[in-house]
Amino acid sequence: HGTSTINGQGHLEIGGCDTVDLAGKFGTPLYVMDETLIRKRCREFVEAFRASGLPFQVAYASKAFCVMAMCRIVEEEGMSLDVVSDGELYTALQAGFPAHRIHFHGNNKTPHEIEMAIDAGIGCFVVDNFVELHMLNAIAGEKRHKANILLRITPGVDAHTHEYISTGQTDSKFGFDLQNGSAKQAVKEAAALPNVELLGVHSHIGSQIFEVGGFKLAVEKMTGFAVQMRDELGVVFSVLNLGGGFGIRYMEGDTPLPVAEYVRAITETVRDEFGKHGYPLPEIWTEPGRSIVGDAGTTLYTVGTYKDIPGVRKYVAVDGGMTDNPRPALYQAEYEAMLANRGNEASEEVVSIAGKCCESGDMLIWDVRLPQVRTGDLLAVACTGAYNYAMASNYNRIRRPAVVFVKDGQADVVVERESYDHLIQNDVVPSRMKPVTK
Ligand code: LLP
Repeated sequence: HGTSTINGQGHLEIGGCDTVDLAGKFGTPLYVMDETLIRKRCREFVEAFRASGLPFQVAYASKAFCVMAMCRIVEEEGMSLDVVSDGELYTALQAGFPAHRIHFHGNNKTPHEIEMAIDAGIGCFVVDNFVELHMLNAIAGEKRHKANILLRITPGVDAHTHEYISTGQTDSKFGFDLQNGSAKQAVKEAAALPNVELLGVHSHIGSQIFEVGGFKLAVEKMTGFAVQMRDELGVVFSVLNLGGGFGIRYMEGDTPLPVAEYVRAITETVRDEFGKHGYPLPEIWTEPGRSIVGDAGTTLYTVGTYKDIPGVRKYVAVDGGMTDNPRPALYQAEYEAMLANRGNEASEEVVSIAGKCCESGDMLIWDVRLPQVRTGDLLAVACTGAYNYAMASNYNRIRRPAVVFVKDGQADVVVERESYDHLIQNDVVPSRMKPVTK
């Protein structure tokens, strides 16, 4: 992927940086992000929309990987930013991200989060439910503010993906349902509330989607709804947000489409559908997360112990695991890997990669072909840029790894490795507990 190659020493090189050197300098586990590839993905989205001639906003879904340096890249690439919590909002604001380009998502925004977002001057709230709609209207009123909103609609589109990450169906915790009339009721109420400005609607049909069919269907359903709201309530939407979910290639067999094809399918369907009804073409917003950062990330691990069970399996343990990548344990997600220090050597054995956490489910990869693996080898797991650092934990009090951005032979730490002090900095020993006497 991206700027990675095997260099003259047989080492995996990413962004012009030898991964063996990176491991030596920054330690392992280490998240390495190819900045050039991240920017390339950003530009693919922006250019594909520009080519469509429709007004648009591409909002990076920061949940996939939210750190200040990433917010800077998104800003520089001229995109917007989707946040879902006060923490993501805080990170973006601290990075100097322009508030008016921030969209706030989530099914349970707290009053505090709503206040914080209004005070910061964010561009738009994506309102998820009736409670939030009225809470936002009330808080905005107190602040003599009118908040731009989209309504999150559950369009009932099955995006053919893992059930845990498909959110478009009716039985979902997210959004106003299209079928049962709550979406129409929400439009009616939003249009009547004095302190919100209804810009349009939002739908997100799932994640890691390989086909355009689901997006086309979502556009059709949302257009139908827009036309119905115009005809029945006289409300016209100026924004249609189609969420994220564009797939990436984790494994050889994965078949995502080029970014431009997803975008073309969406923009063409919007033109056709809205055009058909003489509806003014709305601004199209999308929220890619995984497809911006996923394949730009590689995690480097040092091989420690291994255990050969003759006739059964060889377990090879690395110095990380479900704490830095919970996706295999959570979603049975699959990854490809290679030995970064011996990139030219042929595969000789099939092994399974285990993490170091105290549970059997802490497996990163089942059955991967590698050269004969030895203690001290450097294992590179590909496509770990999205939902890895973002979902990392301190289970077993394992410290979160550092993140480095590599570009043109330069490596910059964008997140420091956690220290032991990080682990205990919020611990409090009540004073009634007697001091330890040595
Ligand atoms: N917009 C909304 C409203 C979303 O809920 C999501 C993802 C996105 C955009 C970005 O979707 P993407 O382009 O990244 O597929 N932790 C899971 C993925 C959860 C996705 C949640 N929502 C994973 O590791 O696969």
